[in-house]
Amino acid sequence: MKGIILAGGSGTRLFPATLAVSKQLLPVYDKPMVYYPLTVLMLAGIREIAVISTPRDLPQYRALLGDGATWGLRFSYLEQARPEGLAQALTLSRSFCAGGACALALGDNIFYGNGLTERLREARRVVESDGGAAVFATQVTDPQRYGVVSFDAAGRAVDLEEKPERPKSSYAVTGLYFYDGEAARRAEALRPSPRGELDITDLNRGYLADGRLRVEVLRRGIAWLDTGTHESMLQASTFIEAVESRQGLKVGCPEEVAWRQGWIGRERLEQLAARMEHNQYGAYLRRLAGEGEP
Ligand code: G1P
Repeated sequence: MKGIILAGGSGTRLFPATLAVSKQLLPVYDKPMVYYPLTVLMLAGIREIAVISTPRDLPQYRALLGDGATWGLRFSYLEQARPEGLAQALTLSRSFCAGGACALALGDNIFYGNGLTERLREARRVVESDGGAAVFATQVTDPQRYGVVSFDAAGRAVDLEEKPERPKSSYAVTGLYFYDGEAARRAEALRPSPRGELDITDLNRGYLADGRLRVEVLRRGIAWLDTGTHESMLQASTFIEAVESRQGLKVGCPEEVAWRQGWIGRERLEQLAARMEHNQYGAYLRRLAGEGEP
């Protein structure tokens, strides 16, 4: 399965912080925001990833991520010339995905928690073997800001709405989507929503209507952090700092995931650590390399 990271948008809700810098490059505590969704894809076992961004910002993603080889990955870069909605990511990456299944991660979505890796791998496995799409939903206090899924009495997903004024449930659909090879074709057939965009929720609604959408609920124990406002950006940084300094384990560290997956060896990890030898991030990588086999 291939991966797509959508890191476009003009970030207007975070102005002036994002006037000159892409939102998904801003730091969340000790690393660029985009590292978090990137490592989520890596934990799902995905190594070939297309990064989509605006013509202005794409060069900076290239500068940050390169071709991916140092992490045992392969990155491609795709331009989103006009921000016409999230579902456009599927049509832009049509030839990259070449008719195969893909996982789309929004570049500003941060997940952390127990059992996350297993959930990701299961979603990937199901979509690869049975087709259709799989999304994750989680309870929030402000569902009107997101795609919202509602369920019937038996817990089956029955409805999806994008940013409803009166949400029918408190379950938001997170920005991580697994799709079969039909996604590009389905996305191409979409028409702009009343918001004037090709909404990802409309794509998912199509899968739901065909009985081809799995909605996996993430319950307590898995955190989905918001980065949509200045306050929530700070909260996300504080959360990551608290977890990292308490446990001595990093969240969203691509070097570590590549090492633990066996995609890079000790020598490479030591080289990566040397680039950051004067800070705790480098010390962390050095410690990992010294711990023996991942
Ligand atoms: C987008 C989607 C929304 C989803 C959210 C998750 O909203 O349109 O359905 O719940 O991402 O982050 P946006 O963040 O673009 O407003």
